[in-house]
Amino acid sequence: MTEKPVVMQTSPIVAPMDHIYERYTVLRLDQAADKDGFLAANGPGVRAAIGNKITAETMASLPDLALYANFGVGYDGVDIAGAKANGVRVTNTPDVLTEEVADTTMALLLAGLRQIPQVDRYVRDGRWEREGPYPLLPVTLVGATVGILGLGRIGAAIAKRCVASGALIAYTGRAEKAGFPTYGFVADLEDLASRSDILVVACKGGEETRNLVTREVLRALGPKGLLVNIARGSVVDEPALAAALEEGEIWGAALDVFDKEPFVPEALKHMTDRVVLAPHIGSATEATRTGMANVMIANVEAFFAGKPLLTEVPETKDA
Ligand code: 8YV
Repeated sequence: MTEKPVVMQTSPIVAPMDHIYERYTVLRLDQAADKDGFLAANGPGVRAAIGNKITAETMASLPDLALYANFGVGYDGVDIAGAKANGVRVTNTPDVLTEEVADTTMALLLAGLRQIPQVDRYVRDGRWEREGPYPLLPVTLVGATVGILGLGRIGAAIAKRCVASGALIAYTGRAEKAGFPTYGFVADLEDLASRSDILVVACKGGEETRNLVTREVLRALGPKGLLVNIARGSVVDEPALAAALEEGEIWGAALDVFDKEPFVPEALKHMTDRVVLAPHIGSATEATRTGMANVMIANVEAFFAGKPLLTEVPETKDA
């Protein structure tokens, strides 16, 4: 009987994983009470790890680590500098989640515009009967400008859906993208916000994009503006967002991601009238999470077989 290959799991993975746990010996660092002790006892010899969070320190305790197969397209939970320094190649799970995340974004965007959680409460609390029709809402998607911060795979899939709903698209990012002749590229984010009725954050996380959405950007979005974030909480200055909502500088927010998940700023939790919150469910369906787990493990398999990795991130590919 051939021995099962060994991988270490560094963080919980919310996906159907039984088939992976059957085929591999998975060392569950994420479940260890004494992580340092667990690493000292099990770290040497581990060549591949999975999850969506690993520090440079943990990598240093895994002297033989050569692959980190990240569960997720975003790999801001992986210390890339540490990976490069320790000779660890990193893979992610692009493409398989694009359409799912774009659908979640539309659900949130429309829930924000139409105040779906709020109108649900309005009915249940008997206010329709007592107070009459719900107040009219200020933003119509048909003819609105949706500004997209980050026109990558997911941003483009969101844009496509917004166009189908009759909206116009403007976007910003590092550079203008070929292939979108009807979308307006706006180099400056504040400028983009001032032209947008709805601003959708769809860029990558990490230090490069931290707090890009400032109070000034929110002010530019304006008192009828809706902010939608399905990327990373770190991209938005959360205290500035709470303040802008409080002061009526923007109209509403629909948020799937937060800077310190699962903790959500109390101020945002208390704003029930104009804020829609979701617990990072962008890709969270059985089918999509299964697809992501499959891509993650296909990279591990390729690595052990000495074959080319399927979806290596550019930073370690170029290293
Ligand atoms: C997951 C994500 O929620 O792919 C990403 O970058 O944020 C999500 O699909 C994440 O990987 C944690 O499970």
